Amino acid sequence: MNLLEENQPTDLEQMVGLSRRGFISAGALCGAAMFLGGNLLTRSVMAAGVNAAPGKLLGFDSIAAATRDTLTLPPGYSASVLISWGQPLAKQGPAFDPSGNGTAKAQEVQFGDNNDGMSLFPFPGDDNRALLAINNEYTNYRYLYAHGGQPQSLEDVRKAQASEGVSVIEIQRKDDQWHFVQGSSYNRRIHGNTPIKFGGPAAGHPWLQTQADKLGRKVLGTFQNCANGKTPWGTYLTCEENFTDCFGSSHAEHKFDAAQKRYGVVTGSKEINWHAFDPRFDMALNPNELNRHGWVVEIDPFDPQSTPVKRTALGRFKHENAALAETRDGRAVAYMGDDERGEFIYRFISRDRIDHKNPKANRDLLDHGTLYVARFDNSDGHPDRPKGSGEWVELTFGKNGIDAASGFASQAEVLIHARLAASVVEATRMDRPEWIVVSPIDGQVYCTLTNNSKRGDDGMPAGGPNPREKNVYGQILRWQALGDDHGADRFGWDLFVVAGNPSVHPGTAKAGSSNITPQNMFNSPDGLGFDQAGRLWILSDGDYSNAGDFAGMGNNQMLCADPASGEIRRFMVGPVGCEVTGISFSPDQKTLFVGIQHPGESGHSTFPEHLPNGKPRSSVMAIRREDGGIIGA
Ligand code: FEO
Ligand code: CA
Ligand code: CA
Repeated sequence: MNLLEENQPTDLEQMVGLSRRGFISAGALCGAAMFLGGNLLTRSVMAAGVNAAPGKLLGFDSIAAATRDTLTLPPGYSASVLISWGQPLAKQGPAFDPSGNGTAKAQEVQFGDNNDGMSLFPFPGDDNRALLAINNEYTNYRYLYAHGGQPQSLEDVRKAQASEGVSVIEIQRKDDQWHFVQGSSYNRRIHGNTPIKFGGPAAGHPWLQTQADKLGRKVLGTFQNCANGKTPWGTYLTCEENFTDCFGSSHAEHKFDAAQKRYGVVTGSKEINWHAFDPRFDMALNPNELNRHGWVVEIDPFDPQSTPVKRTALGRFKHENAALAETRDGRAVAYMGDDERGEFIYRFISRDRIDHKNPKANRDLLDHGTLYVARFDNSDGHPDRPKGSGEWVELTFGKNGIDAASGFASQAEVLIHARLAASVVEATRMDRPEWIVVSPIDGQVYCTLTNNSKRGDDGMPAGGPNPREKNVYGQILRWQALGDDHGADRFGWDLFVVAGNPSVHPGTAKAGSSNITPQNMFNSPDGLGFDQAGRLWILSDGDYSNAGDFAGMGNNQMLCADPASGEIRRFMVGPVGCEVTGISFSPDQKTLFVGIQHPGESGHSTFPEHLPNGKPRSSVMAIRREDGGIIGA
C-alpha cells in the first residue's frame, strides 16, 4: 500500500539519490551538489537542516470530521475573516448589498466572488505589509441576484463578469493579526471586462482576431480564474479554467468543429448564459472569442496601472494552476494541469534564464519557451500503490508528428489547440489533474488527480497513475525529475496517497492506501500548498453528503501531510456546502490564509456572518495559533 512504509528507497528516490526520508542524505549530497543549481541546493540543505526534523513535522492532533456550519480547527487555533465577497476595496466604495440588488459597477470595485487560488507578495523591507492576489473563480446566481436565477439582462451579465477575475488587496499586520487595508492604492480588481494583452507565439494569430480586435492582440477580461502561480520575479499567474462554460450559441442547431467540441463548448452554455445578452459570448456571432480564453495570465501586483498579459506560450486548456520551478541551468519551469476528465499534465520551460538580480528583466520570459506534455509508462502493476517512470514529450510544430498531416500549420495553432497536439503525441489521459506544487525541500512535484467516476465508461482504461476504474475518491500523484533537474525529460513517479473510505469499504481497494484511516479520510483532493518547512497541505473539493461512499467524511476539509512518512492529519473542516480552496502563508509562517468557496452551495449555510437574510459569502480566512507559533508545527 504505502510505499513509504516499506522502509526501502523507492525507484523514484534511487533514481535521484534521495534518502529514505525524502531529504538529500549526507552521502547523496556531494553527488546532488554536482547536479543542483546553487539556489536549489541552498534551499534543500537549509530546509532539511533547519526546519524539517523528521517525524516531528506535524505538531497537532487530527481533528474529527464535522458537518457543522462553521470552521473547525485543532485546539489552540483560531480563525478570523480577512475579506468576503462584495467588500468594497476603496474607502468610499459601494457597500455590499446582501439583497442581491447591487449593481455591476459596484461589483467591479468590490472583492470578487468565490475566491480560489491566491499568492502573497511581501513588501520589500516591511514585515507588516503584503499584497494578496486572489482569484475569483465564478459566481452563484442564487446569491448574486435578487431574483436568484440566470441572468435576465445585460446588466445581470455585467455583474457576473465583474464578480470573476482577480482581486489584488493590501493586507497589514497589527497586533500580530493581519487585516485587509480598505482604501490602499494597491487594491485592484481585474474582471471579465478588464483590458488585457496577448503575449507569446499565438498573439496576433488570425484565430485570435475578432471584429472588436482585428489585430488579435488585445482582449477584454479574464474569468473562471481557478488557481494560481507565483513567479520568482514577483508576478502573479492566474489560470483560466472552465472558460467554455461562459459561451453558448444563439443557433439552436449550432455545429461545433472538432476543436470546439474537444474544449467542451455547448449551445446552452452550461447554464451560465452570458451569450443571451452579450454577443461576445455567442459562438454564432463571435466564434474566435472562445480562442481568446483558456490561458495563463501574468499580473504585476505592485503596479496597479499595469496591463495583465495572457501568456500564450503556456498553451490553451482548462488551466488549474501553474507551479513554478527552475531548471538546473536557471530557466523557468511551469507545471500545469488541465482539469477535465481524461486530459493531461503539461510542463513549460522558458527559453531564457531567470535574472534573479533584476526582476523587471523577466517581464516577457514566459513568452518564449517550449511546452511539453506528460507520458506515463506502465506502472509496476502494484494494485494499490503503483509507481513507474515517465517522460515529457515536446509539443513543437514540426516535431513528434505535430505537422500538417496531423492538422497543424504553425506553433500558434499548436498552442491554441494544445489538447489536440497532446493527443497527437499520445500523452497519458489523467483523472482530472488539479493543483500541482513543488516541494521546497527536495523538489518533488505533487499533483492532485481529484476523481473520475466515469473512467472505464469513456474508453480510458485504468492503469498507471490512474489505477481505478470508478474513481470516486481521487489520488495524489508525485514525481521527481531525473537528476533532480526540472529540465530533464524523464522522471520517476509514485502515488503519495490513494484516497478512500476504510470505514465503508474495509479491506478492499476502495479503502484507499494505508495512509488513509477512518480518522483522516477525505475525497477529491484539489488544492495543494507547501509551507516553508515542507508540510504538504491538502484541500478538498469533494462530495460532502457524508453518506454512502462518503459516510464519515463530513464537510470539505484541509489536511496536512508529512511527505517523508506519508502521514496525513485532518487540520480543518469547512462550513456546510463549501469547497476549501486557495492557500497562502504569511512570511513568518504564523498565519495561514485559506479560502472558503461557495459555502451553502447546497444545504443551508450562513457562513461567515450569519446575515439576517441568511445568505452565505465566500471568504478568505486568516488562521493563527493562539500561542503565536508556526502553523502546523
Ligand atoms: Fe477550479 Fe479544477 O478547479
Ligand atoms: Ca480546483
Ligand atoms: Ca475540484
